[in-house]
Amino acid sequence: MALEIRPLSEAMGAEVTGADFSKPLDAADVEALNQAFLDHHLLCLRGKPLSARELLDVACYFGTPHAETTRSHWVDGVPEISKLVSTYEKPEDKPADPRMNRRTGWHTDHSFKEIPPKATLLHGHEIPSSAGHTRFCNAERAYADLPEATKQRLEGLQAVHSYDTMRTPARAIARTAEEVAETPDVVHPLIRTHSETGRKTIYFNSNRTDRIVGLERAESDELLDAIHEHMTQPQYRYDHEWRVGDIVVWDNCSLVHSVNVDYPIGEPRIHLRTLIEGTRPI
Ligand code: SIN
Repeated sequence: MALEIRPLSEAMGAEVTGADFSKPLDAADVEALNQAFLDHHLLCLRGKPLSARELLDVACYFGTPHAETTRSHWVDGVPEISKLVSTYEKPEDKPADPRMNRRTGWHTDHSFKEIPPKATLLHGHEIPSSAGHTRFCNAERAYADLPEATKQRLEGLQAVHSYDTMRTPARAIARTAEEVAETPDVVHPLIRTHSETGRKTIYFNSNRTDRIVGLERAESDELLDAIHEHMTQPQYRYDHEWRVGDIVVWDNCSLVHSVNVDYPIGEPRIHLRTLIEGTRPI
């Protein structure tokens, strides 16, 4: 099959066409996809809506998909695929201040885990008529652009990632006592090295990075605020405008993402999602 891979923006991303993703790809195409993923950090596979089982086959091209713990989220009995419904059913679901919706915060998925996922696949099934873009920033390029003195200052710093942090205005979903016990704080390097490319990146999550180990709160906040501001500048950014059937797969080590949550009330926004197993950040 003749896969076509075209860049989506200056900052990151490539669009992949020329394949029917409901059918198996050959080994050469899978290798080309994985190389493009490392080169571009984000791929958008264009196609039609897939079933959970078909999406699972695509996810397996990129690694080992995680099984979801909560069975109610499984789609068609497939433990690795969950349904993400972000529709505003009624006016009270949509906050007046978008920052109160946690998906607006620039984040990398599941950084509260000791071993966060390498990648996320999100597959558009129902898309609102306006807004609802998933926006991405390239933290690897942001790191590369830092002055040498700043790189040296950040090298070796460790950050505490909590399930929730008061640094962000919206609170995380309430957890049961059992879930709290299962989600202790974890510590990750602030500057992490990509397990496959060896390139360095800033590993920061505005929804979870609470503080820098060994710094006073004020100094830590100042540093994290500066990092947040630096890495979310327009030159590092790509906004994905969804089409039904898109599969967007992104690198959770080198990118952060957030959602433009200002889409119309009552218009379905539904994705299937799976996370690909990663390695401990170093
Ligand atoms: C997420 O924040 O992981 C979901 C992205 C989206 O809903 O577009």
